[in-house]
Amino acid sequence: MSSKFSKNIILTGFMGTGKSSTGKVLASKMGWEFIDTDQRIVEQAGLSIPEIFDKFGETYFREIEKKVIKEVASGSHLVIATGGGAIIDIENYEIMKRNGIIICLTAEEDEIAKRVDDSRPLLKGGRSGRIRALMRERDTYYRRADFTVDTTGKSPYVVAEEIIDLLSLREDGKI
Ligand code: S3P
Repeated sequence: MSSKFSKNIILTGFMGTGKSSTGKVLASKMGWEFIDTDQRIVEQAGLSIPEIFDKFGETYFREIEKKVIKEVASGSHLVIATGGGAIIDIENYEIMKRNGIIICLTAEEDEIAKRVDDSRPLLKGGRSGRIRALMRERDTYYRRADFTVDTTGKSPYVVAEEIIDLLSLREDGKI
């Protein structure tokens, strides 16, 4: 892709849609740095995500998440994978929108259920029921993304290629 494209690429979408795996492949194809905000949160807190939720609750997790998003989004030529709940917060969304192109990854519910495990704090107490309810609740927020790419049945390589194609078309003013 031409060097005209200098904004960050920011990945959002539900848990299990492949934001981190796609983000890594995409970054290496672009020659850009990859940042995973969940990973940064874990480093800053010195605890795993389930531990942060267990010990300090979701509100604390969201505080660190917001801080990390502020820190990383102002960079450039970054592929940033955000946690599935980050875009729900309006301030996070505005920072993401100002500093990058937001791509939402989606996948069919059954595939998400296969990809995620029981360690996800927000899916405790009935994985499939929780996935459906949360997906419905979050739909309007994910629609704020500039583009949406379905990942069902696709490898991270294929999804990364699709994102690059979309960005090229956009750069050429075709979409
Ligand atoms: C969350 C998604 C998780 C992680 C945390 C909360 C969410 O990230 O940030 O458990 O609210 O959807 P992934 O989407 O990378 O799994």
